[in-house]
Amino acid sequence: MSVSVGIDRIGFYTPGLYLDMAELATARGEDPNKYLIGIGQSQQAVIPPTQDVVTMAANAASQILTAETKQEVAMVLFGTESGIDNSKATAVYLAHLLDLPSNTRAIELKQACYGATAGLQLAADYVRVHPTAKVLVIGADVARYGLRTPGEVTQGGGAVAMLVTADPQILALAPTSSYHTEDVMDFWRPTYRTEALVDGKYSTNVYLDFFKTVWADYQQQTQQTIADFDAFVFHLPFTKMGRKGLRQILPEARPEQQVTLKAAFEASQEDNRHVGNLYTGSLYLSFLSLLRHGQMNAGQRIGFFSYGSGAEGEFFSGILQNDFQKGFDETALSTLLANRRRVTVSEYEAIYRAQLSNDARDVQLAVGEESARYYLAGRQNQQRQYRIK
Ligand code: COA
Repeated sequence: MSVSVGIDRIGFYTPGLYLDMAELATARGEDPNKYLIGIGQSQQAVIPPTQDVVTMAANAASQILTAETKQEVAMVLFGTESGIDNSKATAVYLAHLLDLPSNTRAIELKQACYGATAGLQLAADYVRVHPTAKVLVIGADVARYGLRTPGEVTQGGGAVAMLVTADPQILALAPTSSYHTEDVMDFWRPTYRTEALVDGKYSTNVYLDFFKTVWADYQQQTQQTIADFDAFVFHLPFTKMGRKGLRQILPEARPEQQVTLKAAFEASQEDNRHVGNLYTGSLYLSFLSLLRHGQMNAGQRIGFFSYGSGAEGEFFSGILQNDFQKGFDETALSTLLANRRRVTVSEYEAIYRAQLSNDARDVQLAVGEESARYYLAGRQNQQRQYRIK
């Protein structure tokens, strides 16, 4: 008998600062509605130098791990394109900060915004073979395009942590998925750069083409149609992108189903609209947003479209489980988002420029405003100094 495998718990962390997109639009000489409606972003997480992908992942993972489950984590798969070292994996730092047992595998996965999906699928395959194992999957990034660039409105950052197990509480993954890879130069970041190079318009077109391809292939493999789905969640570099994806397939649905799919999309973009781009965590923040804000029921099928520039796309699906509401900490999430402090455009610009320098100097960061449990205190002898409150 085959084992049911999927997402048992999901956690999310984003730092305690945000920028208002109407204010940014005004500062950049744009109509606020271009950002609020045209791009579909209301707020953007601002990442202080005291948070990086390791600390954000630790803050997200600590929401879903107990002392007991930590002992059962067989593997940590850390998806990121904002790595802090070309050799040592962020997963090793994370395993240490979380005090995971030493008989854990810890690796980093990179393919732009697709890394966490690779982690999820590899984790699921591992658990299918080792049903008592738990795998911690991370999607964490800092989305940086640069001040006064067209991509600036699509920045953001944060981390999603998922525990993949047998008999999951939240979502049982269907074993079939459809994926597609092509060597495309739509977005990339050579090792000497901290900001991505991007052909924005081209990347939105490649995203939509890849979605068309993997959706058609998935339907052919499974003989399912849009009528078999109750919601679709998308990689959301900005919320308009997923809206365009949904519009592409909506005519395949009956009119009454179109209404429910559109309502589910509105729920799934709510948190992303207030946090911005998480790169590889975005699809999973959107999934969490659907669970938090949507009218979903156990037994419903959700379709997932993952896209990582460069480029790789994947479509897969899962069935919501009876206890899905118990798989995330609603109080912690709503408190996290409600307690963020709004920064002005000039404060944001100063924080943007204050990121840890790209050299070997010792640095001691101002940690006074840092309220997170895990944070970065600076760099000494070319080593990042992580701290736990
Ligand atoms: N009110 C409402 N909508 C408005 C508007 C206004 N006053 N002014 C413009 N818009 C709309 C445009 O019509 C357009 O909508 P559409 O895409 O449905 O046609 C949208 O706002 C964006 O305007 P556009 O002129 O295309 O924006 P831009 O040239 O600044 O670039 C991106 C937008 C997304 C390409 C740019 O932000 C970017 O490069 N982002 C990073 C790359 C990325 O995220 N890629 C995604 C794939 S992973």
